[in-house]
Amino acid sequence: MELEQIANGIWKLRIGTPEQHTPVALRKFPMSEEALGKLAPAELPKQAGQIAWRQSPRGLQITLSMDSSEDIYGFGLQLKSMNQAGRKRMLRVNSDPVADTGEGHAPVPFYVSTGGYGLLVDTFRHVEFYMGTSLEKGRSEQRREVNQAHKEFSESALYALKKNAEVRRVIIDLKAVDGVDLYLFAGSVKEAVQRYNLFSGGGCLPPMWGLGVWYRSYGGSDQGAVEALAEGFRREEMPVDVLGLEPGWHSHSYSCTYQWSYLFPEPEAMIEKLNGQDYRINLWEHLFVYPAAPFYQELKPYAGEYEVWNGLVPDFCTPEAEKIFADYHREEFVKKGIAGFKLDECDNSDLNASNWSFPDVTEFPSGMDGEQMHAAIGGLYQNLIYHVFHQENKRTYSQVRSGGALAAPLPFVLYSDLYQHKQFIRGMVTAGFSGLLWAPEVRDCRNGADLLRRMETIMFSSHAIYNCWRIPNPPWKQVDIGKNLAGEFMEDADYYTDVCRRYHRVRMSLLPYLYSAFAKYQREGIPPVRALVFDYEEDTMVRNVDDEYLLGDDLLVAPMTLEDGLERKVYLPGGKWHDFWDGTVYEGGREHAVHAEYDKIPVFVRENCILPLADPVEAVGKDTVFTIRPKVYGSGGEGCVLYEDDFETFDYEKGCRNEVRITRDEDGEIKVCRTGEAGKRYVIAV
Ligand code: GAL
Repeated sequence: MELEQIANGIWKLRIGTPEQHTPVALRKFPMSEEALGKLAPAELPKQAGQIAWRQSPRGLQITLSMDSSEDIYGFGLQLKSMNQAGRKRMLRVNSDPVADTGEGHAPVPFYVSTGGYGLLVDTFRHVEFYMGTSLEKGRSEQRREVNQAHKEFSESALYALKKNAEVRRVIIDLKAVDGVDLYLFAGSVKEAVQRYNLFSGGGCLPPMWGLGVWYRSYGGSDQGAVEALAEGFRREEMPVDVLGLEPGWHSHSYSCTYQWSYLFPEPEAMIEKLNGQDYRINLWEHLFVYPAAPFYQELKPYAGEYEVWNGLVPDFCTPEAEKIFADYHREEFVKKGIAGFKLDECDNSDLNASNWSFPDVTEFPSGMDGEQMHAAIGGLYQNLIYHVFHQENKRTYSQVRSGGALAAPLPFVLYSDLYQHKQFIRGMVTAGFSGLLWAPEVRDCRNGADLLRRMETIMFSSHAIYNCWRIPNPPWKQVDIGKNLAGEFMEDADYYTDVCRRYHRVRMSLLPYLYSAFAKYQREGIPPVRALVFDYEEDTMVRNVDDEYLLGDDLLVAPMTLEDGLERKVYLPGGKWHDFWDGTVYEGGREHAVHAEYDKIPVFVRENCILPLADPVEAVGKDTVFTIRPKVYGSGGEGCVLYEDDFETFDYEKGCRNEVRITRDEDGEIKVCRTGEAGKRYVIAV
């Protein structure tokens, strides 16, 4: 076992001989050493000294000790639970996990403990973690007296006995490997995640338009229908920035030809027209390549042994497959004005009947096997697409249904076909522990109230997206799919249209604030959407809060679901909090029963801050300048810092960026201080 410090607060521990293909071996982003250097110096976590391992015929088993008071978070996108202390996690990419096993769209072999460290296991394997589930034999002998003295019989008492404070084990079970690298990250939950994200290369910075409202249109739409929809939004003054096209744009989509279908006779004219109305276009695709795709023959030698839906599975771990796919996307789409992609079906739907996925035993030309490829494929694709956009000096914000380790720099948001609203909210909270972004997208709605609750959630998330691939008309006109298809609108369609419009505007007013939160993600590794435990770890009350989150530094969001009705409990951490809508002041450090009508999502603003709210625009255009109206809460505290650049290129890498600091002085006057080389995109109204 070799231990090596690789950066401030990060250590690498090599056990045996690691595999050739691992997340770190395939990384495309260098670690953000400079930003890591700015964090407070950290000591080697004590757990480093307690790591033991053994090799056996089943593979490698690694153990660490774990205090039962430790709370554990991470393991990627976890929709069914947040605090993983006392649980077993089985990390396998699976689009449809039926139970709380740890599987899902984006499992990541990284966790963080309130015991002062984070740990990454550098593998693409189906690794299993037992997080303090187990004690070695004989350890309970000393507990006999305590247990026997306990006379009460009740179910909780029965199980409580088994949860006595004691030192347990973390067991990491890695099959079929001769070795692995572990990476240890020191610090609190916030610092350890920050270090993990900076080790990954820092967080992503989407273009400003990516943070606006997204609308995925009906799968059966043709060019005329998409253009009419786009015109309708502008006519009805409904802010929308991105239009997504679904499978119907391909001449063959399961698997894909990546060629326009008869429904879109003049795609280039359409793109130009929509771009001219300040819409960005995102194309649905997956990466299984149909025989009629123009690059099929060229790609064939660089694809895996088995097909998915009669299509090739490209091995993006070979430079050849990467180049073929990237060149085609650059020339055919990105250069022609497409702003991003939605990578569907890359998340191993292997439990569906028929050939929805490739088997784990698949051999790929690079030497990877199917098991590894399942964990790697989403990330390989994201890196490839990112670099295509980077070469063109355009930023993208795109979608993907699977991701993995070291994903923080990738501007892709995860989504799902699952749909439980509470789980979708939890997804936002859990994704932030492992460098992921998650979209609680609005799809089908049971009724108008369900539409509102789900719509409110997306407006306060990292991705405000409606996925209307099954309905030709906006959901605010008709939530019932059958009636929507028949063109029948709800009686109160005007009411729902108004409420949605109001929220789209709120979203647009938050854009500079959100953009600046992402800039902080990029430079400091602090996730823009995060659990309360990041900022309030000392308050043990927040350790299990999985239905509230911080959005940026100053907003606390507590979304509601249809099932909640009009009231929910909200825990507010210490200090005062202001209701975002009406300013009511709440005392923190306790739980509140909060009442909210269906058209209101509970959102709270931290005391002593300045919220840089913008006048809403309908879409972010090339020359959009935001008028910012600073809203002061309490004393205004340290104010706020807005990040400003051209909103869409990589010129910031060459220094074309500003910091706009807004503060309030003792006389109550707003002060603005701008530093940097970029042009002005914010006008501060004082
Ligand atoms: C699903 C995807 C949906 C939609 C659909 C179209 O798998 O999650 O969002 O794109 O495919 O076939």
